[in-house]
Amino acid sequence: MNSSNYKILVTGGAGYIGSHTSVKLLEEGFSIVSIDNLSNSSINVLNRIKELTNMNFDFIEGDIRDKRLLRKIFKQHKIDAVIHFAGLKAVGESEKKPLNYYENNINGSIALLNEMDYANVNCLVFSSSATVYGEPSIPKCNEDTELSPRNIYGQTKLIVENILTSLKQIQPKWKIVNLRYFNPIGAHPSGLIGEDPSGEPNNLMPYISQVAIGKRDKLFIFGDDYNTTDGSGKRDYIHIQDLADGHIAALKKLLQGSPLKININLGTGKSYSVFEVINAFEKASSKRIPFEIIERRKGDIAEIYADISYANKNLGWSPKFDINDMCKDAWRWQSKNPNGYSK
Ligand code: NAD
Ligand code: WQD
Repeated sequence: MNSSNYKILVTGGAGYIGSHTSVKLLEEGFSIVSIDNLSNSSINVLNRIKELTNMNFDFIEGDIRDKRLLRKIFKQHKIDAVIHFAGLKAVGESEKKPLNYYENNINGSIALLNEMDYANVNCLVFSSSATVYGEPSIPKCNEDTELSPRNIYGQTKLIVENILTSLKQIQPKWKIVNLRYFNPIGAHPSGLIGEDPSGEPNNLMPYISQVAIGKRDKLFIFGDDYNTTDGSGKRDYIHIQDLADGHIAALKKLLQGSPLKININLGTGKSYSVFEVINAFEKASSKRIPFEIIERRKGDIAEIYADISYANKNLGWSPKFDINDMCKDAWRWQSKNPNGYSK
């Protein structure tokens, strides 16, 4: 297919996954229009994307719940498909501010869908999450594994998945994929773009990176008494570059009209424990990561990883990078940008 014939609207395009996927889209020859309210991202990422790709694109600072703005965007640009990243993603915060999460993640998605419908744009890739599986009875999840999110954030993802599933069933003109990401980590190999959490990181890799750069004294490991190989939690970490490639693969299939099932896992199919990630990071950075074992974090599970056979077979996609690459790239980004995108 000739990607240069297609214009893609990227919501949340300044965020962690949105920025890496934008680079891939531009490199693939797609035109993009990006919208982000910058509630969890920096305007500085835009110049980095332009520097990396030598390409320009339209960026709109705005909120996807602003229906008038969306209508204007769809009127101004002939959009062929949307990749929808915009949303709130902090599990702990979602339990404290449930209405913010329902409001942003659900109303935002509905506003977007209504305006897509009005503009007759019916092709969508949605950012879902492995969090919809909750605590599976066996750690390996395929797309038919029972869904049971354990927090408000996960509920919002499941509700949007359900909305999209009914939409596709009732109106077959809609071409939709819900990509269920496992644990995206790492950064672009250039070290120009990466994950830049505001405040104290919630997730393992940015926390380890900030310990390595000296911003935090030690990592707190949330429990070493799980029923896993070494007692710490095990997750399926996926390189952000592989994740971005997964979006390109899914988007192309949708644009070509290939039949796809709506929910697709993106992971590596392997799980690593917290201790294994620390070891890999120490090797990649030549830094020591001091840690302290503390009590389990509420809502955490022992182990989860993806069955990625559907994506392998039907997207023609498979991850290329391993945990050592993920740590190397995360460290390159952190060491080149000790304060993230802020000067
Ligand atoms: P991120 O916070 O870095 O990016 C999300 C972007 O959306 C941010 O730039 C934010 O400013 C923007 N945004 C939020 N609400 C908005 C709104 N109403 N209008 C416009 N922009 C808005 O997060 P990310 O890690 O890049 O995640 C992208 C998507 O993937 C999210 O939907 C997230 O829930 C989902 N996801 C992330 C992970 C992960 O571990 N990072 C895992 C599974 C799913
Ligand atoms: C990984 C492992 C922790 C931090 C979250 C969301 C999920 C998805 C990805 C969006 C666990 C341990 C962590 C720390 C630790 N996001 N850990 N000390 O919880 O698997 O998934 O991000 O959709 O929805 O829940 O990722 O990186 O927080 O934790 O010991 O400071 O590291 O207990 O075993 P998680 P994580």
